[in-house]
Amino acid sequence: MSAPFGRRADRWLRLALLAALLCGGGALALLMAWVRSPLHTDEGKVLDQPVQFDHRHHVRDDGIDCRHCHFDAWRSPTAGVPGTALCMNCHRQVLVDSPLLAPVRRSVATGEPLRWRRVHDLPDFVFFDHRAHVRRGVGCETCHGRVDRMAQVHTVASLGMAWCLDCHRDPVPHLRPLDRITEMGRPPSRAEGRVIADALDVHPPTHCSTCHR
Ligand code: HEC
Ligand code: HEC
Ligand code: HEC
Ligand code: HEC
Ligand code: HEC
Repeated sequence: MSAPFGRRADRWLRLALLAALLCGGGALALLMAWVRSPLHTDEGKVLDQPVQFDHRHHVRDDGIDCRHCHFDAWRSPTAGVPGTALCMNCHRQVLVDSPLLAPVRRSVATGEPLRWRRVHDLPDFVFFDHRAHVRRGVGCETCHGRVDRMAQVHTVASLGMAWCLDCHRDPVPHLRPLDRITEMGRPPSRAEGRVIADALDVHPPTHCSTCHR
C-alpha cells in the first residue's frame, strides 16, 4: 500500500497551513476545494455528480433499456447523457417530491442543464465513434462493464491505444447479435462472434488515421 499522502499532497498541506496563518477560515475553504480537485481523485474512481443517479435502480430494478437514455449511441459518435426533460417524463409521477431530485426539477424550471462530470474522457486527439461499434455488434458491456450493477459509473478498461488495437486486430470474440447490444450479463462467445463477423463483414481498421484524424 502506498502512503496516503504523496509529495504533492504535502505541498498542498503546507500551502494550506501557511494560508491558515495568514487568513484563518480561508485555509479551510482551500482544503475543502483540494479534496474535491482532480489532483486528489484517482483515475478510475467515481466522481461526485450533481444528482446521485444510480444505474442499478434504473436499469436493473426498473428494466429501463440503455437506449431509452443513450439513444445517440446509434446515430452519432457520442452516446450522450439525457437532458432533464427526459428524467421528468417519469419523475413527474415517481419520487415527485424527493430532495434527491431537486436539482433535476430546478434544471427543468430554469432551462439550465445539469453539469454531469465525465467518467470516460479520451484525449482530444483521439476519434471515437459509438455508432460504428454498436451497429457492428460490439455491446455496451464489452467496453463499459456491468453498468447495471454500478451505483456510480466507473471505467472498467484502460481506454488506452493498446486496448483499442487489441480488439481491432481480433474483434471476433467480442461480437454479439445486434438485438443484444444493451444486454448485460451474457458476454458473447467466439463461435457466436464468428457468425456475426461473417454476416456483417466486420473488419475494424488499424491504420493510424482511423483514430487520429
Ligand atoms: C434513465 C436513464 C439512463 C439509463 C436507462 C441508462 N443510463 Fe447511463 N447514464 C445516465 C445518466 C444521467 C448518466 C450521467 C451520470 C453518471 O455518470 O452516472 C449516465 C452515465 C453513463 C455512463 C458514463 C458516462 C461518462 O461520463 O463517461 C455510461 C458508460 C453509461 N451511462 C452507460 C449506460 C449503459 C450501458 C446503460 C444500459 C445498461 C445505461 N447507461 C442506462 C442515464 C441513463
Ligand atoms: C423510465 C422512467 C425513469 C426515467 C426516464 C428516469 N427515472 Fe429516475 N427513477 C425511476 C424510478 C422508477 C425510480 C425509483 C427506483 C426505486 O425506488 O427502485 C427512480 C429513482 C431515481 C432517483 C432516486 C435514487 C434512486 O436511484 O433510487 C434519482 C435521483 C433519479 N431516479 C434520477 C433520475 C435522473 C437524473 C433521470 C434522468 C437522467 C431519471 N431519474 C430518469 C424512473 C425513471
Ligand atoms: C468499443 C467500446 C465502446 C462501446 C461498445 C460503447 N462505448 Fe460508450 N464510451 C466508450 C469510450 C471510449 C468513451 C469515451 C469517449 C470519448 O471520450 O470521446 C465512451 C463514452 C460513453 C458515454 C459518455 C458520453 C459520450 O458519449 O462520450 C456514455 C454515456 C456511453 N459511453 C454509453 C454507452 C452505451 C449506452 C453503450 C452501448 C449502447 C456504449 N457506450 C458502447 C467506449 C464504448
Ligand atoms: C471490443 C472491440 C473494440 C474495441 C475495444 C474498440 N473497437 Fe473500434 N471498432 C470495433 C469494430 C468491430 C468496429 C467496426 C468495424 C467494421 O465496421 O468493420 C470498430 C470501428 C471503429 C471505428 C470506425 C472505423 C471506420 O472508419 O469504419 C473507429 C473510429 C474506432 N473503431 C475507434 C476505436 C477507438 C478509438 C477505440 C478505443 C478507445 C476502439 N475503437 C475500441 C471494435 C472495437
Ligand atoms: C483503434 C484506435 C487507434 C489506432 C488505430 C491508433 N491509435 Fe494512437 N491512440 C489511440 C488512443 C485511444 C490513444 C490515447 C491513449 C491514452 O489516452 O492513454 C492513442 C494515443 C496515441 C499517441 C499518444 C501517446 C500515447 O501512447 O498515449 C500517439 C503518439 C499515437 N496514439 C500514435 C498512433 C500511431 C502512429 C498510430 C498508427 C500506427 C496509431 N496511434 C493508431 C487510439 C488509436
